[in-house]
Amino acid sequence: MINALRGMKDMMLKKAKLYEHIVKICEQTAKNYGYTLVKTPHLEQTSLFKRSVGESSDIVGKEMYQFTDKGDNDVCLRPEGTAGVVRAFIESKQDKTNGVYRYFYHGSMFRYERPQKGRLREFHQFGVECFGEADVKEDASVILMLNEILTKLNIKTTLKINSLGDASSMATYKEKLVKFLDEHDNEICADCQRRKALNPIRVLDCKNESCQEIYKNAPLMIDNLNDEAKADFEKLKEILTNNQISFEIDPKLVRGLDYYCKTAFEFISNEIGSQSAVAGGGRYDRLVEYLGGKANYGVGFAMGIERIMEILNEIDEKRDGIYICALDEKYTDYIFNLGIKLRKDFKVDISYKAKKLQKHLSDADNNNSKIFLCVGENEKNNNEIWFKNLQTKNEKTIKIDDIYKELENE
Ligand code: HAM
Repeated sequence: MINALRGMKDMMLKKAKLYEHIVKICEQTAKNYGYTLVKTPHLEQTSLFKRSVGESSDIVGKEMYQFTDKGDNDVCLRPEGTAGVVRAFIESKQDKTNGVYRYFYHGSMFRYERPQKGRLREFHQFGVECFGEADVKEDASVILMLNEILTKLNIKTTLKINSLGDASSMATYKEKLVKFLDEHDNEICADCQRRKALNPIRVLDCKNESCQEIYKNAPLMIDNLNDEAKADFEKLKEILTNNQISFEIDPKLVRGLDYYCKTAFEFISNEIGSQSAVAGGGRYDRLVEYLGGKANYGVGFAMGIERIMEILNEIDEKRDGIYICALDEKYTDYIFNLGIKLRKDFKVDISYKAKKLQKHLSDADNNNSKIFLCVGENEKNNNEIWFKNLQTKNEKTIKIDDIYKELENE
């Protein structure tokens, strides 16, 4: 037997319904915030992620599904959604229009990580990206949106926020941090030595306890913000407070991707073990320019759909649709044709085989159908059909000519 690859999972039946349910809530909410659908390819040039997510990140350094295609191009399966959307934004020249553009997306992302609960090699994200808006109100809006989605899904989380400053405050801060790291050069781990050279702020989320002990005394970005970044962070906190969103300030929240500035945030759940981040995001005002576009503002988030599914497990499904069947082989063509007609207006499962009434009823129940329509000899002879609402348990025999009227009443 050929199995799915390690860290890659099928979704069908209840899982697929749960996925649809989550995405539907996300889409409806994002649309209310003025976001529209964007779809970008799963396969991109490797350089796109090297330049955006950054070579110091584990995602690019260790986890990419990278290969050379038949045309000798260095390509990889997208490990995240932001870079592709930024590329599409630049490629369609929207960066030159000075407009504000808001997009949402959902789909597969690929990271060659060690699979465990809540961590897959192919996983799905729902994400949003807004371009062209410098105002911190948009940072607040995407957090409000995400909070609304999680509330609608009934998921309890803790919101952590931080500010990574703007380009000028980050440059001065990095100098201070590198000076501190130089003073502890013999004590920090090999990974942190590498991070120090590539992107020093990433040392702050090192998982090594002895490093963390040292970083207790490290200078923090949040104490080194310039006036503009500080004012934005204050405004963000004010908007969240005014909207009754509780949050914790985590000065060591630097995120695993290199492109952030100013706002950075994560929503954490304590219901899913060590892979506790259900969503994360922030502002990335330099990314469009890094990728060759006209300098432009950007802010967004992505939510891990499987992590949400771990918490929800399954949804209470409402009964839906019609199950139509016959008790005698003679009438299966008749109900097949009737079912096809009804499908123009309703969701209809047609049973091709004649069965005993109890068997049909249990099949309809397994399908979670709401209306049960059945034809036996008496019904056929009298131009009638047996009609049962499986939710209310009401049942009656009705005239075939009244079928639309009865269905519309339900
Ligand atoms: P990220 O934090 O790398 O951010 O991923 C966002 C979410 O995807 C995580 O919080 C987590 O729920 C989920 N996730 C990540 N890796 C895995 C995995 N291996 N298995 C299952 N779920 C996973 C980004 O990807 C950024 N592009 C977010 C963003 C959008 N920032 C600005 N705009």
